[in-house]
Amino acid sequence: MLQRTRYSPPETDRPLARPALQFARAWFRLLNSGAVVAGGKQLKTDGHGHWSVYGDESERSLKKVPPELRVDFVNGAVAHRLRFGGGRGQDIAKAMGLRGGKTPNIIDATAGLGRDSFLLASLGAQVTMIERSEKMHALLVQGMERAAAEGGELREIIGRMTLLKGDAKDLLPEVSGEAILIDPMHPPRKSSALVKLELRQVREIVGNDDDAADLVRLALRHALNRVVLKWPAKADPIQGIRPCTHQILGKTTRYDVFMTGQG
Ligand SMILES: C[S@@+](CC[C@H](N)C(=O)[O-])C[C@H]1O[C@@H](n2cnc3c(N)ncnc32)[C@H](O)[C@@H]1O
Repeated sequence: MLQRTRYSPPETDRPLARPALQFARAWFRLLNSGAVVAGGKQLKTDGHGHWSVYGDESERSLKKVPPELRVDFVNGAVAHRLRFGGGRGQDIAKAMGLRGGKTPNIIDATAGLGRDSFLLASLGAQVTMIERSEKMHALLVQGMERAAAEGGELREIIGRMTLLKGDAKDLLPEVSGEAILIDPMHPPRKSSALVKLELRQVREIVGNDDDAADLVRLALRHALNRVVLKWPAKADPIQGIRPCTHQILGKTTRYDVFMTGQG
């Protein structure tokens, strides 16, 4: 019996296949170059998870898509400060009373991104952190888990940090600390371009902390040794609180130290 074998031309010989192949190759080149066109916009990646959006040709606008806010104790600024920060000579360490062999236990009543707490814990202090924003608290939990999973020194530092969720005005009477740190959101600066992206992102989440004076007054009743208010170097003092005992003045930040003399 005669066997029929159907002849099919190779892919590239098919007249209809050629444009499809060319199209696929063009896509491949485009993807390889890091640029993808979608919905009239062009997305471009820098290869590190950051994407830029180009608008229409006529707009010629280039907008950076900001990276998502995250608490990162493993890389970046915090890790750099851990290695090169200057230890107990740093202003915040002096303000909180870490000197020589003295290491007070600390309450950070405004935990935020946890940077100050992490620094103080890296210098040996036991730090109780309080954060009232649900979102910031969740970011802190994730950041602490990631850092602890690294093991070694990072795990030890995280082991000295305890995170509480709630308003410090409610929780301070329940926890005891020799030194209380308060770093409320600072008054918005006139030139917003100068404000770091991360701070803008935190402000979008938590707002303005307008009750900072109440928090300082309450902390003054509960700190065994001192309350430290971290505030912009040139900003007016917060209204409605007593004058501080002394100040540690940095280039952009100052620490108003209120000795309480209870411990
Ligand atoms: C400027 S950030 C603190 C930054 C922090 N020092 C750091 O190193 O990342 C202020 C944070 O304090 C929190 N906060 C302000 N008042 C608070 C209060 N009464 N109780 C708990 N958290 C408070 C805000 O929600 C915000 O996350």
